[in-house]
Amino acid sequence: MEGQYSEKVMEHFRNPHNVGEIPDADGVGNVGNPVCGDIMRLYIKVDENEVITDAKFKTFGCGAAIATSSMVTDLVKGKTITEALRISNRAVAEALGGLPKIKMHCSVLAEQALRSAINDYLAKHGKPTIKEPRSIHENSGEPNLGD
Ligand code: FES
Repeated sequence: MEGQYSEKVMEHFRNPHNVGEIPDADGVGNVGNPVCGDIMRLYIKVDENEVITDAKFKTFGCGAAIATSSMVTDLVKGKTITEALRISNRAVAEALGGLPKIKMHCSVLAEQALRSAINDYLAKHGKPTIKEPRSIHENSGEPNLGD
């Protein structure tokens, strides 16, 4: 499997950052890809200024799903909810030095997990929720946006 993956992907796959749970999380996102069967759970801790102070994940999935979970949890820390919503699957993949085309959907799963966790946070705090997490457009890396 090495070779087609960047060194950064391999690094995050071998030593993923932020693995685990946040028991008193402010938002939890659960997503899965029905095609490959991979699932991802992402936890966020949010302070009173809407800054994400911590993020952790549990992913049952492929190496790229683990690497993108690791990267997305790194990327969101210290960001506000509004900033975090701008993190696209492409940004996650780019931060990893790119992903093979057929693995772009793994980065979509990471983006969806983040959006799902943010939605959970917003709903729990009586704030207007965002649109449903983007849906997976198999293999293209192009999320089905609708926005
Ligand atoms: Fe399904 Fe990577 S193969 S998320």
